[in-house]
Amino acid sequence: MIKNWQEKYSENMQKFEGYSIGKTLKYLADPEIISLAGGLPSPKMFPKSEVRIVSEKRLNDDIDKIMQYSAIPGEANLRKAIIKFLKRDDIHIAEENLLITSSGQHGLDLTGRLFLNPNDTVMVDRPTFAGALVAFQMEQAKFIGIDIEADGTNITELRKQISQMKQKPKFIYVVPDFQNPTGITMSLAKRNALLDISYEFEIPIVEDSPYRDLRYFGEDIPSIFSLDQKRGGGNVIGLYTFSKLFCPGMRVGFSIGSAEVIEKMTFIKEGNILNTPKYNQDICAAFLEEMNLENHIANCQKYYREKLDIFLRSMQKYFPKELGVKWTKPAGGLFLWVTLPKNIDTMELFYYAIKHKVAFVPGNVFFGENAEKNHMRINFSYASKDDLVEAIRRLSNCIKEKIKE
Ligand SMILES: Cc1ncc(COP(=O)(O)O)c(C=O)c1O
Repeated sequence: MIKNWQEKYSENMQKFEGYSIGKTLKYLADPEIISLAGGLPSPKMFPKSEVRIVSEKRLNDDIDKIMQYSAIPGEANLRKAIIKFLKRDDIHIAEENLLITSSGQHGLDLTGRLFLNPNDTVMVDRPTFAGALVAFQMEQAKFIGIDIEADGTNITELRKQISQMKQKPKFIYVVPDFQNPTGITMSLAKRNALLDISYEFEIPIVEDSPYRDLRYFGEDIPSIFSLDQKRGGGNVIGLYTFSKLFCPGMRVGFSIGSAEVIEKMTFIKEGNILNTPKYNQDICAAFLEEMNLENHIANCQKYYREKLDIFLRSMQKYFPKELGVKWTKPAGGLFLWVTLPKNIDTMELFYYAIKHKVAFVPGNVFFGENAEKNHMRINFSYASKDDLVEAIRRLSNCIKEKIKE
């Protein structure tokens, strides 16, 4: 019998402790807890009857192929539909620029495997998406965090840091639209300035875009990928997922980039998961082509806009601003970011809040280095409208109690 598994693991995995959000989510089994923690879209926005109809048709027409292996780069029908889908966002790609992935997290995993040696540096926002940090940590990356401002990454600081680095970072990772966890959107000027840095220092940009179509207020800003294409293209790798706009259960996404990068990612996928299930790809293709996409997007925008509005109004009413509590006001996406006075540790607040039947994600998990402890990520898409108000009331009581202690 093996007595010590630890010594059998690779050195990297011996230290690896997994996804820190996962550790907090296990406390949420209690049905009385209103969770503002996960990044879950609302099941009310899943096009369920349409999925039933197309599922039945696909299973009737194509079951032999559905039960078979599928092509590594992805199914032809989905690939065609995605190329068309991206045109509405002024992104114009050929077949060789596209790889179907099994979700957004898979795109992050492939990116990390492709670029990172142990101790390579990745530039990230402070804070940034925890799942990206985990994917890049698997390759033993180091992070340099640049503060995120109300209009995105602090570009002056990013340029200063990169200029001073002897060994340049392998890539810059950003979520420019309604960032997870802050909800912040990067301005057009900053997107262009980021590309300037990328061109000047020859550093790829990884643009992670799960929320791009979930805009509730204001005008669209061009994606960094489309701006890069106008300049000649090739510096940006775009990571996308159907998880937020359609449903996370399908685990389908896609990555776009220069032909040689995509080819390499395809090679990695071959040794990694081989292929994405055909059935799931077919349903995603039907989502793009047969389920009235524009109508669906408009419904999601309307529904989440209402929720965000209720949420912000409740925060305005209940949250103790006078005690130094601040929060972001996103124009889209699924999250906002709350900053508490510096002496409040939101990990401790989390356990206190759980006892009072409300949950959020403590902000420390979203920092690549030097984690700050006084923030929290709050999701407004999942809980019902009534529950959102009640959750804010409970949370604000917990915050007031902790600040008074
Ligand atoms: C910025 C960002 N990237 C990637 C993902 C992962 O998406 P998926 O659920 O498709 O793996 C998420 C999910 O929350 C996200 O917020």
